[in-house]
Amino acid sequence: MTETQQWWRGAAIYQIYPRSFADGDGDGVGDVAGIRARLTHPRDLGVDALWISPWYVSPMADAGYDVADFRDIDPLFGTLSEAEALIREAHAMDLRVIVDMVPNHCSDQHSWFRAALAAGPGSPERARFHFRPGRGDGGELPPNDWPSHFGGPAWHRVMEADGTAGEWYLHLFAPGQPDFNWDNPDVREEFESVLRFWLDRGVDGFRIDVADNLVKDPALPDLASVPEDGPSPVHDQDGVHDIYRSWRRIADSYPGERIFVGELWLSDRERFARYLRPDELHTGFNFPFLQAGFDAGRMRAVIDDTLAAHAPVGAAPTWVLSNHDTTRHVTRYGRADSSYGFDRRRLHGTPVDLELGTRRARAAALLTMALPGCVYVYQGDELGLWEVEDIPEHLIQDPAFHGTAGADPGRDGCRVPLPWEGDGAPFGFSPDGATTGPWLPQPPAWKDHTVAAQTGDPDSTLELYRTALRLRHAEAGLGGGELTWLDAGEDVLAFTRPGGFTCVVNFSERAVDLPEHHELLLASGPLDHGRLPSATAAWLR
Ligand code: GLC
Repeated sequence: MTETQQWWRGAAIYQIYPRSFADGDGDGVGDVAGIRARLTHPRDLGVDALWISPWYVSPMADAGYDVADFRDIDPLFGTLSEAEALIREAHAMDLRVIVDMVPNHCSDQHSWFRAALAAGPGSPERARFHFRPGRGDGGELPPNDWPSHFGGPAWHRVMEADGTAGEWYLHLFAPGQPDFNWDNPDVREEFESVLRFWLDRGVDGFRIDVADNLVKDPALPDLASVPEDGPSPVHDQDGVHDIYRSWRRIADSYPGERIFVGELWLSDRERFARYLRPDELHTGFNFPFLQAGFDAGRMRAVIDDTLAAHAPVGAAPTWVLSNHDTTRHVTRYGRADSSYGFDRRRLHGTPVDLELGTRRARAAALLTMALPGCVYVYQGDELGLWEVEDIPEHLIQDPAFHGTAGADPGRDGCRVPLPWEGDGAPFGFSPDGATTGPWLPQPPAWKDHTVAAQTGDPDSTLELYRTALRLRHAEAGLGGGELTWLDAGEDVLAFTRPGGFTCVVNFSERAVDLPEHHELLLASGPLDHGRLPSATAAWLR
């Protein structure tokens, strides 16, 4: 690996969702063999690092975010030695590797949780989780009013060894994802050891799942009993920062620059920035940007807020348009309301103009890549893929769909297997002769969106990404560094970066003049007699 100072400050990082990237063994589900066979794709795209969503042993109650063994790979995805080989091969291609760490909860099949069930109430095994007696005369009511993110209460009642209904355990997500008790020293030690396990295998960092959720108010008070403007008992508790300080010491004790990126859905920017203090996490996902929609005013406000929040702690911002939990932005940006919230059901299935969504997505890609900081690309962003909103219900796997009896459409629509080549499914996702089709059906229209179909087509989204990432790399003023806004008129965002680089994005309905320049480096769509059309971005010098 080439060593660069603080590489994450200006990195481009590609998110691989293993079950949907590439299937090496023909069972219809992506795997490590598939990633290894297709590693040239992120390399040729020009990213600096990969973030690999969970590949650990898991009963897949939440697509691998329910981990039964943090030190091994699920047989569905391959073996530990294949994962080690992947890390080596990626490094040989100058790609760093970030793995997902899921410290808030494990699987109900994790050995610690099984031991906790067997050991019974009051045992040290149960103290590693949040077990409580129920309320009501016979303990038949959940211990408090916390809801699960996937519908229903965040508590599940267990059957004790003597066959009677017993205690309840906390699960902020699916019942198959019991929350760890982070006040328990065993839990802290265990995760420090798991971090070392992967650092010893050469990983360059960790993406921390629901990073602000780990510590709970030990009294587990009813939400109805806490003041709305007071601290939440469920997330962003002050005690969580100690954990990250100790994790940072571990990462810093390894050679090279090993980094953390926190999944932090926090709207309070000051609270968000606390996670990025110099002795805590290096970076955190900047979700308000993703949520802003394609809107000049809202995006400008989020960019300003982001830069202002990061500056005092000296941290690098991140820019992300989509991930495996959110509606793909080609679809979001094709809607009259292009914002995003966790009320996915509100917009799901409402009209989408994919042509408009695509133009906006291409413009937004150039915007994010020109901003100061680190940029994330979710697999398929670079192919211009859209959300698949017509997956037959019986094929949907997401617990967010099943836990809410379908009220939440779930996240499978952004997890459809990638199209690589060919005119019909599986589009090279699975090898020839595969016994089953991809785990989710791919739209026939993706034949024009395969990697092969787009390669060499200068108008394709894939070539736009390749060119943009190459320019971004070569341009000294991009990545980290300063941004200066230009006044470019209403509904137009324009800014300069060091070295005479300018980015202009036209959010308005009409074409606008470009600011003065002597070179057009790249545009997200054709210009209109030298003017920048609606929903188009340009990079200038
Ligand atoms: C994070 C993951 C999501 C998962 C949840 C529970 O939000 O990104 O996919 O369902 O955590 O682990």
